Amino acid sequence: MYCRKKPHWISAAAFAAAGLALAAPSVRAQANSDPDATAKARLAWMREKQGNLWNVNADEGAFLRGLVEKVHAKRALEVGTSNGYSSIWIAMGLRRTGGHLQTLEIDPGRARLAGENFRAAGVDSLVTLKLGDARKEIPALSGPFDFVFIDAWKQDYVLYLDDVLPKVRPGGVIVAHNVTDLRDELQDFIRAVQTNPQLKTTIENPGPGGFSVSYKLPAP
Ligand SMILES: C[S@@+](CC[C@H](N)C(=O)[O-])C[C@H]1O[C@@H](n2cnc3c(N)ncnc32)[C@H](O)[C@@H]1O
Repeated sequence: MYCRKKPHWISAAAFAAAGLALAAPSVRAQANSDPDATAKARLAWMREKQGNLWNVNADEGAFLRGLVEKVHAKRALEVGTSNGYSSIWIAMGLRRTGGHLQTLEIDPGRARLAGENFRAAGVDSLVTLKLGDARKEIPALSGPFDFVFIDAWKQDYVLYLDDVLPKVRPGGVIVAHNVTDLRDELQDFIRAVQTNPQLKTTIENPGPGGFSVSYKLPAP
């Protein structure tokens, strides 16, 4: 019989373990050898079932994950969660560094999808999702952050930068999406990250959107 509700006395971990025990041996072996197997499977499912909710593509996601690992980020912040696709890539990096992601989303429907996706991807212990306006939420966050990913409404990128910059530690990195495909819309932001004396910025194009990657320099 199809059971709509899982019994309350089965924990999420036990439920997942039970599912794994029933899975084919090849699936079990994959999950045992790759700690990200569940997350990768959910990412593929999201691509197929949830369409593109303005998500980074897979190459861009892998780039974000690699950058998290490269800077050994422990404290990460994302501005603009959508359904959590990029968050899951970032979380896979944080699993290796022992870090944690705070992610901000203003839209309740997309935030709900993200929460479901984080649980299904097995990254919910690595991510704290906050429903709210980043312009209001960021000033209330304590920081310091090692890694910030900006991917919300483009007209507010300069404002997000102003809000997050004081909360990023020297050596930390601020990454922003769409500086290539939406470069006209983002020209004020691109100029801001390229001319701010606190930042050293390059443009990277692992996918069509393009990222600005800005390292915060030590204070002179
Ligand atoms: C481009 S999508 C994010 C895609 C996501 N980073 C990914 O790649 O999977 C932008 C998201 O930012 C959210 N957003 C826009 N303005 C925001 C704000 N002020 N605070 C929080 N979220 C915001 C939108 O609701 C939208 O879901």
